[in-house]
Amino acid sequence: MLSIIVPTYCEEENIHPVVARIRAALDSKLDYEIVFVDDNSPDKTVERVGELQKQGAPVRIIVRKDERGLCSAILRGFREARGDLLLCMDADLSHPPEAIPDMVQAQKQNQADMVIGSRYVAGGKTEEGWGLFRWLNSRVAGLLARPLTAVRDAMTGFFVMPRSVFERAKDLNPIGYKFALELIIKCPCRNVVEIPIFFADRQHGESKLSLAEQARYILHLKRLYDYRYGKASRFIQFCLIGASGIIVNLLVYSILLKLGLQEGLAYALAIWVSLTWNFVPNRYLTFDLTSQQPVWPQYGRFVVTCSLGAVVNWLITMTLSHQGGWFDQHKLFAALIGIAAGTIFNFMISHEWAFRAARVRK
Ligand code: GDD
Ligand code: MN
Repeated sequence: MLSIIVPTYCEEENIHPVVARIRAALDSKLDYEIVFVDDNSPDKTVERVGELQKQGAPVRIIVRKDERGLCSAILRGFREARGDLLLCMDADLSHPPEAIPDMVQAQKQNQADMVIGSRYVAGGKTEEGWGLFRWLNSRVAGLLARPLTAVRDAMTGFFVMPRSVFERAKDLNPIGYKFALELIIKCPCRNVVEIPIFFADRQHGESKLSLAEQARYILHLKRLYDYRYGKASRFIQFCLIGASGIIVNLLVYSILLKLGLQEGLAYALAIWVSLTWNFVPNRYLTFDLTSQQPVWPQYGRFVVTCSLGAVVNWLITMTLSHQGGWFDQHKLFAALIGIAAGTIFNFMISHEWAFRAARVRK
């Protein structure tokens, strides 16, 4: 059986139309159920599903009262669905139900881990009405996920997969909107087939894709990168934060100089401010697994680490540029190598000591 999971929040005007179109497309073709997962919408969404149920439509609804969020709603639906094939789609008819039989067939034919109704393969299309901002937004979001998967439309909310593939996923930890992406990485889905769809604009109600949701996407991406690339992902975050620290350092230094502070003191303060600046995102982002540890001892260890890193930087730069070789004429390059070595040193010691997570024995 096919289970169609439809997450809803305030979709009262879309319930009847979406069910009518699904029925027109699937009745007498497929054995299926429709499972709405609603987060206690204040409008008439739940009543609308009740009406359909009374008319004998193959629908039911799960109402969550204590939680909100698209991904977690779909997850709940997948877990409670009865089918051996799980499909997810929006309620607002952006996703054409008429594509479902093709998607199911493509899954069977290819033994696919996932079939996506895709906007970004030949023949796929998005309704014209998208403003530049939404289009750009969607494209940038897609680009950021490129290193994780080759799937063209991994941002989608329209896909089908066998339950057995879904059940392969262990640490499902989705936040925000991109459930397909989470599954592609965690199940993982290797054989993903994309078939083209026309993505229509919603006719009723409004999108819930807020700015906060987009911030959550960045956090979701970070988790997926850590999951996929482990230490390398954390190293890149460490470097990005470090780069922002350089800007802070220079900014504070120039302000303090303008204020008339003595140079040595001003630079010492600038270093301290940028170090503290770096500490915060490293605690809560790069090494988020340790953010429950007491803050001050951790801060102390980070200060010690960076001070040692400065010594490493200094020693390497000085050694290189006093060898009588090429670096004597190119002292800035010597400094660059010193900085790189210091950064790697800082990261290793941060990882192994300053922000050491409790290691779990396997
Ligand atoms: N239960 C529940 N809880 N459902 C929700 C929530 C929530 O917090 N937020 C949104 N939904 C439901 C909506 O009612 C709708 O059926 C579906 O999820 C998609 O929400 P929209 O608000 O219409 O999202 P969108 O059109 O901006 O985004 C769609 O396109 C994106 C790609 O451009 C979705 O399909 C996304 O998954 C997709 O990434
Ligand atoms: Mn929508």
